Amino acid sequence: MESPAPESLKHTLYVPNRTLMGPGPSNASSRVLDSLSNPILGHMHPECFEIMDEIKQGIKYLFQTKNTATMCISGSGHAGMETAFMNLVEDGDVVLLGCTGLWGHRAAEMVKRVNGDVRYVEARFGRSLTMKEIEFAFEGHKPQMFFIAQGDSSTGILQQHLKEIGELCERYNCLFVVDVVASVGGTEFLMDAWKVDMAYAGSQKVLGAPPGITPVSFSERAIARIRARKTYVKSYYFDALLVGQYWNCFDLPRIYHHTISSTLLYGLREALAQFCAMGRKNVIHRHQECSHRLQCGLQDIGLEMLVPNANDRLPTVNTIKVPAGVEWRKVAEYAMRKYNLEISGGLGPTAEQVFRIGLMGENATYERVDLVLNIMHEAILSTKLKDKSKI
Ligand code: GLV
Repeated sequence: MESPAPESLKHTLYVPNRTLMGPGPSNASSRVLDSLSNPILGHMHPECFEIMDEIKQGIKYLFQTKNTATMCISGSGHAGMETAFMNLVEDGDVVLLGCTGLWGHRAAEMVKRVNGDVRYVEARFGRSLTMKEIEFAFEGHKPQMFFIAQGDSSTGILQQHLKEIGELCERYNCLFVVDVVASVGGTEFLMDAWKVDMAYAGSQKVLGAPPGITPVSFSERAIARIRARKTYVKSYYFDALLVGQYWNCFDLPRIYHHTISSTLLYGLREALAQFCAMGRKNVIHRHQECSHRLQCGLQDIGLEMLVPNANDRLPTVNTIKVPAGVEWRKVAEYAMRKYNLEISGGLGPTAEQVFRIGLMGENATYERVDLVLNIMHEAILSTKLKDKSKI
């Protein structure tokens, strides 16, 4: 007997309209949302290729790079991370992972799967790595690759010294891989000037495009390393030379590699177009100003930032200590139930310890900062346990 069609699919789709002020995704602009209802294009249609070429130009501006191997991976930010290690690590390569929160450890899970030899340099909790700590680890491990997240969204830490790390990597003939998923566009990132060999971003954070398509870029040195591999890249889907050929990066005829989502291309193209129109430096400045305003407002209501040193604070994902007597989950639930506002809790090493407030893209405005401050204050007052202290 044939199974009946499910009852749940008999009503039309309903999606609540939320203000997304967690670590991402952030809200998309109406220009981006409108673009998503354009007709689907074939993945080998010339109009689709034209959009891909425009996206490449946008990513080069976003990353400040001239790398020809600049493209997108069809997948979320994790796909960007997987692409880095799949392509650039061979059996036994020593990979030094800079850890300022969860992401160095997530990278380890991927490096182990491609038989890399994982080593760590761990920052002190709540701080970015110092050059001394990094140099000491290089001397000890002599890595073939160094990885760091510029912005660790679990701790809200902004890693300093990327330029100096790039120079150090060059001295050690070590590939320099930077995760800029939560940081790029909201803080300075100069891929070429800082000698970064591979970087991957998130579409759904500062850019405010839908998740599912990830900008990546490889330096010439990184591409040469892939070409010189002794073994095949262990994934066909994430093979940067094949994906790059589809994205027309190598002066070779375009090939069919996979069926890209033209819809996600439209969203990313429009998000990048808006970013370019506003200007990179202006967008970075706006994110910094918003984070500053948030930090002042939080202090006014008696809350404390997790990261003690202001220079180590990531402007896009702000981490705030959960005060004694307050349950972060109840605060987040209150904000969601009453205002459809997302405030997030901690992740990995900060689980149960912090609130995370994202100020990214559409949500990096003074208006949204004031909104989240007011709601958070109200939510804490209404949910806190019977405590007569300041907040
Ligand atoms: C995702 O990026 C997160 O930090 O939760």
